Amino acid sequence: MGVNAGKDILALRQAIEDHNYRYYVLDAPSITDAEYDQLYQALKKLEAAHPELITPDSPTQRVGGAALKLFGEVKHGFPMLSLDNAFTEEDLEDFDQRVRDRLHARHVIEYTCEPKLDGLAVNLHYEHGRLVQAATRGDGLTGEDVTENIRTIAMVPLQLRGTHFPAILDVRGEVFMSKKGFAQLNQTAEQKGDKTFANPRNAAAGSLRQLDSKITATRPLEIYCYGLGLVEGFSGPDTHMAWLNQLKEWGLRVNPFIEIAEGPKACLAYYERMSKARDKLPYEIDGVVYKVNSLSLQDKLGFVSKAPRWAIAHKFPAEEVYTVIEAVEFQVGRTGAITPVARLKPVYVHGVTVSNATLHNMDEVKRKDIHVGDTVIVRRAGDVIPEVVGVIAERRPRDAKKIHLPKHCPVCQSDIELIPGEAIARCTGGLVCSAQQKEAIKHFSSRRAMDIEGLGDKLSDQLVEAGLLASVADIYTLNKHELMSLPRMGEKSAQNLLDEIDKSRHTTLPRFLYALGIREVGEATAKALATHFKTLEALQAATFETLQHVQDVGPVVAEHVVHFFHEAHNRAVIAKLLKAKVHWDAMPETGKQPLLGQTFVLTGTLTTLTRDEAKAKLEALGAKVAGSVSAKTHCVVAGAEAGSKLAKAEALGVKVMDEEAFLTLLKNS
Ligand code: IVH
Repeated sequence: MGVNAGKDILALRQAIEDHNYRYYVLDAPSITDAEYDQLYQALKKLEAAHPELITPDSPTQRVGGAALKLFGEVKHGFPMLSLDNAFTEEDLEDFDQRVRDRLHARHVIEYTCEPKLDGLAVNLHYEHGRLVQAATRGDGLTGEDVTENIRTIAMVPLQLRGTHFPAILDVRGEVFMSKKGFAQLNQTAEQKGDKTFANPRNAAAGSLRQLDSKITATRPLEIYCYGLGLVEGFSGPDTHMAWLNQLKEWGLRVNPFIEIAEGPKACLAYYERMSKARDKLPYEIDGVVYKVNSLSLQDKLGFVSKAPRWAIAHKFPAEEVYTVIEAVEFQVGRTGAITPVARLKPVYVHGVTVSNATLHNMDEVKRKDIHVGDTVIVRRAGDVIPEVVGVIAERRPRDAKKIHLPKHCPVCQSDIELIPGEAIARCTGGLVCSAQQKEAIKHFSSRRAMDIEGLGDKLSDQLVEAGLLASVADIYTLNKHELMSLPRMGEKSAQNLLDEIDKSRHTTLPRFLYALGIREVGEATAKALATHFKTLEALQAATFETLQHVQDVGPVVAEHVVHFFHEAHNRAVIAKLLKAKVHWDAMPETGKQPLLGQTFVLTGTLTTLTRDEAKAKLEALGAKVAGSVSAKTHCVVAGAEAGSKLAKAEALGVKVMDEEAFLTLLKNS
């Protein structure tokens, strides 16, 4: 038994390592996650029965060990260098020129082009193929011993694959966290009320520099290897690229986007391509790295102080910069929501100067522990609005001020209420609050609502401030004389605006409902309500219960709709709008809706139609299509290989239909 168990354990370990290699290094798994899990569980079970056979390099031993008091120091066998930066095309050409001058080269230089991952550099020290130690970069000469933490990263081989290894192999790589891993980690932290990380880099650093490796084991850390330190007892290939391939064969993970480029123009083309791909990559990169591919040329070039002459980092425009919060003001939105807004010392980030950033709500301010006077990280990626992602706690000045929610609306002085359990504070001023009036008018006239061209943000503000508009109903009683009393408003512009207003009288019911600005009723919900109830009168007469028969309308939306139509002032505004001849065509008749009020769940693979088609057909018949099975589900349509949803339906006694029955239902309805 003992002999067999030993053999089985070795075979399982080998199989697991092989699958790790296929999954992480080759990116070509040959089994499912569930099958992998089975292997892992089988190994765990065998080892539990034979604890004497457990060795430190078993895949089961990656769960972290005893917590440390302090990291030990590690002197690097060969210094861990950093890179010089290039920011422009010219910088890159200068770099290439310097390389060629030094080498007296008349030929084009061959470079590797690599993504520059934004994480932490580590050194993995292998002796005869076995991972012996791992260290952070530290000051480049001495780093911290993070062996226990690195061992928890499943994609770091504890034993290299193959048979011929250097006696000593120092591999350099970047430990990082994917965007998804980071988001999930923060979400969990938020749910637990723990502090969140500002960005994936900080999350990776915080996780790797954890004294308790059991915590590190729970963090989604990854690695890509990109270079070498000390290598002894092995005569390897003579180019950097060939070495990277050798590392891959040994089971080390290397980034798949590394390419060869001949000369600086080709490097630049790579840079352009990566900067376009940047947002779509699953991890953050802050630039690309070019390295002279030939190792003998690298040797000839050597180093200056702390950076090699044979490599350079070509940085992307920063997406994250530091600046200072100079003040926090509170803005009032259309529904009275009070939003704290940071006034920033202007900074240039990703192509624009940013001087304001929303702080969303007070919970967010508290969670990020933001004070006035703080130095903060401001992020602007792609077209996303700038945001404050975190505070640099070490830079907080003594006179930093806590941020308090005001008791009164900064615009109308009405009380601000904070509903327990809701993150959002609101001004109770309602229609008397000019900030809310302005926002309501802007929303009403916006393109996707009543589409009144010319009645934009600035004019709405002016009209409210001049006392010409207090509610959206007043729009239709404006006259030319009043309009012309505004600064810089001539007769022609006034007439144009009146024409636009007149044109907007003819609209659609979905647009009208959306324009009213009922809380939580966006375009899609407005459309669903209009389609379902057909007329404004029917919607106004709907109850909390009947509203929830509408697709995607739950108790929260239903409550807001009921409340909205219940308020006398809202009814007065609607009456005034109708009196001003705002009107719409009747909603088209929909077909019979025999499945109205029923909830369906689709699972497994259908052979004759796609999920989306099946969903659309069900919705056309009035059914709701939900993503998960509950006791409220009316029917589960189970295609081939249906899994847990089918099991749950059976457990709950929910009706289950196969594809054939489903097609019959569609045909007969
Ligand atoms: S090579 C001697 N290659 O960037 C060469 N570094 O700014 C030293 N980094 O400390 C580094 N991706 O943490 C190299 N493909 C890559 C890299 C990379 C990210 C990081 C690394 C290094 C820093 C230098």
